[in-house]
Amino acid sequence: MKLHKTRILPATPERLDEAVAILRQGGIVAIPTETVYGLAANALDPDAVARIFEAKGRPPQNPLIVHVANITEALRLTAQWPREAQLLAETFWPGPLTLVLEKRAGVVPDITTAGGNTVAVRCPDHPVALELIEKCGFPLAAPSANRSNHISPTQAEHVAKSLGGRIELVLDAGPCRAGIESTVINLTGSNPEILRPGSISAAEINKVLSGQPDLSDETNGTNRDTGKVSPERNPNFLSPGLQKTHYAPDTPLLLTASSSIAALLARLSRENKRVGVMMITLSDVKTSANFKVVQMANNPLGFGAALYSALHLLDDAHLDVIVCENPPDTTEWAAVRDRLQRAGTSVD
Ligand code: TXA
Ligand code: MG
Repeated sequence: MKLHKTRILPATPERLDEAVAILRQGGIVAIPTETVYGLAANALDPDAVARIFEAKGRPPQNPLIVHVANITEALRLTAQWPREAQLLAETFWPGPLTLVLEKRAGVVPDITTAGGNTVAVRCPDHPVALELIEKCGFPLAAPSANRSNHISPTQAEHVAKSLGGRIELVLDAGPCRAGIESTVINLTGSNPEILRPGSISAAEINKVLSGQPDLSDETNGTNRDTGKVSPERNPNFLSPGLQKTHYAPDTPLLLTASSSIAALLARLSRENKRVGVMMITLSDVKTSANFKVVQMANNPLGFGAALYSALHLLDDAHLDVIVCENPPDTTEWAAVRDRLQRAGTSVD
């Protein structure tokens, strides 16, 4: 792999042109989206896409999301465009919803889709990402811009920390608004199925697909109508990126009920442990000087927006352990709970 001096530069019009030039030459650039920063390359150029896999250390069997500027572009990449796709794209694009569809033969190379016959498409809701796709004139494959199995980046600095030396340019547009990756929904089966909970909730999707199968049960891994098993329960499922541990910080992360956090922190304090604490509910928990406390929002959107930044911050603070209160077990919190459970271990 070619080594680079990684530059973080504000996403000004000149830098955008520079990024377009790199992408046209088959290079890779880290770009902002509304969810997390992505590591972008020409989705239709197998050599360019290979550079993404190499820089991330991503296993070749994990397919990439292809970012498009609009529905017309998605139609060029897909073999079928079912009614659900049209409804969902009209409602949520540009936005954090990824649609898995049958792929059109001979357009998207195998490496992008990990050899599968489906393609994941999404139109990002970020002016920089959209302008890049439009100026390039080709769709951009872009996984989250982190080394494989590390925490996703919601700031340009997170990208540089993880991929520094492996990429030449990070376009900086400040912190990502949503902070949690897109919802991935499979539209190739007999019923729509959420493969990865994300910024758009099952309830929002159900509202649009009303009369269609109910997806609100995605958190327990089963689709209520079909009884289908979600990727968490079936490791051979078609979305191989969804292994159990996927977003883990280096520092162990313990998830605990609000009712038990005080006792856990008291014990860690007695043991003189250096502890990072992600608090949701306000509480009068006594913390010692060894504790670094981050107050998280008590709502899923606010929590989600700050989740990865908090994990990056605490993971960099050389602590023994990070403790996070478990969010409520309700569907609005599904995406946040999913990411926390992948990153940590429940202790009660
Ligand atoms: O918000 C996002 O989706 C961000 C931004 C950069 O767009 N991207 C992102 O990409 O999270 P990545 O590669 O970190 O996660 C993509 C997920 C993986 O779990 C992958 O397995 C799944 O989507 N995926 C991609 N193509 C697929 C396909 N054809 N079928 C099933 N799952 C697919
Ligand atoms: Mg990722």
